[in-house]
Amino acid sequence: MVDIAEDGRTWLLSGPASSYALHLTDADELLHLHWGPRIAIEDAEALARDPLPGYWPFESPLDGREEYPVEGGPRFVRPALSVRTEERRGTEWRFGSYATQGDNELHLRFDDDGITITLHYRMRGDVVERWVTVENGGHARVELLRADAATWTLPDRDGWRLSQLHGRWAAESRLTTAPLTYGEKVIGSRRGHTGHQHLPWVALDTDATEEHGEVYGCALGWSGSWRMAVAQLPDARVQITGGAGYDDSGLLLLQPGESYTTPVFAGLWSEGGFGGASRTWHAYQRAYVVPDAERDRPVLFNSWEATNFDISEEQQLALARRAAGIGVELFVVDDGWFGARTSDRAGLGDWTPNPDRFPQGLKSLADQVHGLGMQFGIWVEPEMVNPDSELYRAHPDWVQYQPGRRRTELRNQLVLNLAREDVQHYLWDQLDTLLSSAPIDYVKWDFNRCFTDAGWPGEAYPQRLWVDHVRALYALLDRLRAAHPGVAFESCSGGGGRIDLGVLTRTDQVWTSDNTDPLDRLAIQHGFSQLHPARVMAAWVTDSPNTQLNGRVSPLRFRFVSAMAGVLGIGGDLTEWSAEELAEARRWVDLYKEIRPVVQHGELYRLRPPAGGLSAVQYLRGAEIVVLAWLQAQSHGESAPALRLRGLDPAASYECRETGEVHRGAVLLHHGLRTGLKGDLDATVLRLRRI
Ligand code: DGJ
Repeated sequence: MVDIAEDGRTWLLSGPASSYALHLTDADELLHLHWGPRIAIEDAEALARDPLPGYWPFESPLDGREEYPVEGGPRFVRPALSVRTEERRGTEWRFGSYATQGDNELHLRFDDDGITITLHYRMRGDVVERWVTVENGGHARVELLRADAATWTLPDRDGWRLSQLHGRWAAESRLTTAPLTYGEKVIGSRRGHTGHQHLPWVALDTDATEEHGEVYGCALGWSGSWRMAVAQLPDARVQITGGAGYDDSGLLLLQPGESYTTPVFAGLWSEGGFGGASRTWHAYQRAYVVPDAERDRPVLFNSWEATNFDISEEQQLALARRAAGIGVELFVVDDGWFGARTSDRAGLGDWTPNPDRFPQGLKSLADQVHGLGMQFGIWVEPEMVNPDSELYRAHPDWVQYQPGRRRTELRNQLVLNLAREDVQHYLWDQLDTLLSSAPIDYVKWDFNRCFTDAGWPGEAYPQRLWVDHVRALYALLDRLRAAHPGVAFESCSGGGGRIDLGVLTRTDQVWTSDNTDPLDRLAIQHGFSQLHPARVMAAWVTDSPNTQLNGRVSPLRFRFVSAMAGVLGIGGDLTEWSAEELAEARRWVDLYKEIRPVVQHGELYRLRPPAGGLSAVQYLRGAEIVVLAWLQAQSHGESAPALRLRGLDPAASYECRETGEVHRGAVLLHHGLRTGLKGDLDATVLRLRRI
């Protein structure tokens, strides 16, 4: 809901539990007033009456108070907007008008000598979505050096702490929290994709715990290079500025009449601690971001760890028969099915089935997989090309490169220049043909290297390639989804290198990490769950000892319960599993299907973080509760501590399906539930129902 004060210069946006307010001074300074608990318009008006302190030669009263600090004038904080025209650099805007849309959107328009800047706000539940449009209304050229999606201003508090999700390949999404000190902390990616190093998310608090206290969170919806700067200003204020692009070397050139719309930067305030903030993020993504989020995601099998590049129709069928036997619902053929792709040295770019491996094309295998009662999925990596490919031999200029420089190969591949229209046409044609050639239900879309030589010879403003690549990717995904509405898409980038709110508006789930070790995964999943819901978090059960990473031996039970915390998949070589293992796997898959609605659509409570001993999560949906618990190692013969459940009705009783015991809600909340876990790498699933 949007409230507007009588003078038309104070605006208040409210969700069920929070409000966000801003005010325009008589000098057209747009000030941030409030972000926190729900307030009334009269409260916002009272805040607006608080005058700005006076100007000093060394301090600006605007710093730390503006909604969207532009470059130019008495400002010393990081500018969210930096613009250059023929005549000058910087912005000095005048307020134009405001407009509301529906009951939850507000748009504020400013003008600066032919450049129009519109700030957009939209409440979605308690999540505030912000983005900005910059339009060149009259200049011969407007160079956008920087155009962030938003600047968020936090209230004066002592002792801010910053939480972030950091990592690298096979170790993504690890949560770390540290005191914020004066100056700026900058995170982002200058790699062309979201990156394994940081999820585009931060959270700030002063004294929050998992279930109590104030938490502010911000997350960016962009799948290319990005930057977020968290600044502790000289007073007790914090500002977070973020958007597409890493450096200030130039984002886009706007010709007369052209405009640029930033990605959405979403933010929330919660007083329910980190758990409350996560649940608000999850509900937001299920309701507004992820397509068809109300649908259950199927249990999948993926061939990568089982067969690597060495694949054939017969061998995939052997796996498919076993997969069907244990209850898998979607069979995905990973890398190696196309072109001359017998290793990572060749074939990327040639999206037709390898005739030696699939003499009858993909349709034959897809039909047989359907015949086994499963959906059929396929792996692609459309944005890349191997120099050893028909595509590269025909179009060596279709890649990103700098004239006269070496073309850096990573994993023996180069990045296609998706900003080029001919490349866009080629990819559309190849992928549309592929999806029309066989009954394909699922596409795993991979991206396995960073940008290194992002040049575009002949193009007047090659910097646009960074933004236009992502726009082209989004357009391609949107067009494929529209043309093939039955096909679901997974975002993958060497594991979790492309996970963000932008890609999630057009993909059904994401590959969380190439690290499928079930113990490491608990930490990765713990971090991932700060922002994203289980409904999009793909997790596989793979072989033991772990073949990809560390050789760790772990029981099937532990591997399954770890992967059941998200969208369950199987990635082991099922042809090597014993009859007992297959029978056990079948039982776990059956159990997962039973608890799936609660896991994929329920509210998540992180009961204990993965920190060496017992860790656990709880999902709650209506009267149903599912607890997944893992014991890494039992020490000194001590029994694992009881798990205090969350979100229950203290006056109700709950029956545990596993033990048949009936527990009082008040007892489960205050004293907890015993898991009976023992030894090393033990795990369990406990189902409870309110009776
Ligand atoms: C990286 C992905 O993360 C893996 O799951 C697999 O698809 C390989 N690429 C295939 O090359």
